[in-house]
Amino acid sequence: MCIQHAHDPHSFFRSGQPQMVHVDWIACPIFDRHVINAIACITFDRGGEKTCLDIRDLSITSIVDENNGAIDFKLSDPHPVLGQSLLFMVPENPCVTIFYETSPNASGLQWLVKEQTLDKNQPFLFSQAQYLHARSFIPCQDTPSVRFTFAAKIHIPKTARSLMGAQFVQRFEYPVGERCLEAMEMWRMPQPIPAYLMAFAVGEIADRAIDDRCRVYAEPGLVEAAAKEFAQLGQMVNAAERLTGIPYPWERFDVLMLPPSFPFGGMENPRLAFLTPTLVTGDRSLVNVVIHELAHSWTGNLVTNATWCDLWLNEGWTVYLEWRITEELYGREEALLQREVLRWELERDLEKFARAGQNEFTALAPRLTDMVDPDDIFSRVPYCKGALFLVVIEGYVGRERFDAFMREYLGRFKFQSVDTAQFLHFVSQKLPGVLEAVEAEKWVYGVGMPSNTPTESSTLSASVTSAAASLCVPLERWSGSQWGLYLKLLPRLVPPELILELDRVHGLSTSQNTEVRFAFLLLALESGYDGYNQLVDEFLTKIGRFRYVIPLLKALANLPNGRQLARLSFDRVKGGYHPITVAQGERLLR
Ligand code: BES
Ligand code: ZN
Repeated sequence: MCIQHAHDPHSFFRSGQPQMVHVDWIACPIFDRHVINAIACITFDRGGEKTCLDIRDLSITSIVDENNGAIDFKLSDPHPVLGQSLLFMVPENPCVTIFYETSPNASGLQWLVKEQTLDKNQPFLFSQAQYLHARSFIPCQDTPSVRFTFAAKIHIPKTARSLMGAQFVQRFEYPVGERCLEAMEMWRMPQPIPAYLMAFAVGEIADRAIDDRCRVYAEPGLVEAAAKEFAQLGQMVNAAERLTGIPYPWERFDVLMLPPSFPFGGMENPRLAFLTPTLVTGDRSLVNVVIHELAHSWTGNLVTNATWCDLWLNEGWTVYLEWRITEELYGREEALLQREVLRWELERDLEKFARAGQNEFTALAPRLTDMVDPDDIFSRVPYCKGALFLVVIEGYVGRERFDAFMREYLGRFKFQSVDTAQFLHFVSQKLPGVLEAVEAEKWVYGVGMPSNTPTESSTLSASVTSAAASLCVPLERWSGSQWGLYLKLLPRLVPPELILELDRVHGLSTSQNTEVRFAFLLLALESGYDGYNQLVDEFLTKIGRFRYVIPLLKALANLPNGRQLARLSFDRVKGGYHPITVAQGERLLR
């Protein structure tokens, strides 16, 4: 069945135009020039009409039809957020071949020299397509409401290995010149996915099997520890299957640990979730991130938001499922603890938007225009407010009815896109009267938090909250999540004596747990204490996760004379950062 959505402000594609259904992609990454030479053979659902693709910083060499006949194309002027549109007539046989090269500045790629990897043996390349970055490495209809299958051939140095969020087909090695061998690796993705879920990586990568359908990939030096950290992947997938009532839809659930410059905690690329190496703490305290990416396999990857204005349908549902899986595996109190951590992060985001006069972005379904880059308004609103909205509905109808509803929803919209209006309509049909009872209008279109926001707290947070309120140095043996919450809950400013005492007793500034180390350094900076600036600098040099880098830079900039300090630090470290992190840092410090 075909559903008409409002048009996606973040793509040049318009529904009604011929739509891409398959891509055959040949990619030759050239490591010394930081470009990919590529050929994309795109098949459309019909021909004889004009269509357009999204591109950003691509140089298009030519477009030809099945007989190698040149196809005329028109490029729009670059748009500050969207890139360019590539407009052409789709031939009767609706298949075109596009020859192109990426730019060294492609926003969706990071090229690392070997010194920037953990093992420092070989250069590394990886993609990150969400939200609008697929168009910087492949011409495509870069909207979550268009899905396509693909097959890919990636040419790589013989010493390297490629990975894709796809099924591995085969590797060939072939001679180039006298002694040098290169390899070509083939992949295929039989299930249709939106462009933002296309993903690949090239580098020195080892692997460890966890069970029949889960495997951990990482640089050789990290792979053992990562396999230990994620030994429970199989149980997580089983729990998610039980909850959703839908067998895992992507055949395998593998994870790839990226180099430390990976800008996110995780990215839900189907079949191959991408993860920051900072999740490997030794105590499994950050496994919620992998549970989150796994949950996206149903909520996001199977049932997909129609546009980025409906992001809460991806992230809110996923956080909700993440909490439910956590509850199954680690108990209700742990799930509630995670809820409190996210709730605190949301509170900070709400304050940030209020200060910036941008309360409109605290609605679950904000009306974004083409001039708002979704990267620039990243916040916990779609995540936490979205999940809490579902918790409120669950609370009203009871868990049993809610679970039946969730399964029906996932079944009804699988391999399709949904917008907010459609979701609300579905709720009103399946759970009549509930939208009114929970004041859904306020949740979805209103700003800030509605008065029926759930406030339940965990028994695991009781000692944390009271220690934070009384400004005392806790003596308990806390988990990583409890420490993280404590440090986040402490008021700004705390006296330097407390900071130093916390560090003396618990060694927080050198914690193996990056989340704890981050929260501690942030507390110190936000309390105006500059005694850890050296450690902050080392942190920023090593780790490029944007959720750590941006708050630390912001806190640095707020110290007396801090702007200069932050600028200097940023300029020194940004060479190692991902383009997304660089762009956000520049935005902050400009
Ligand atoms: N899809 C997101 C990551 C993302 C967000 C990529 C925005 C591009 C733009 C992923 O599923 C995610 O939400 N990751 C979170 C972790 C999670 C536990 C909340 C992150 O990276 O912080
Ligand atoms: Zn997510």
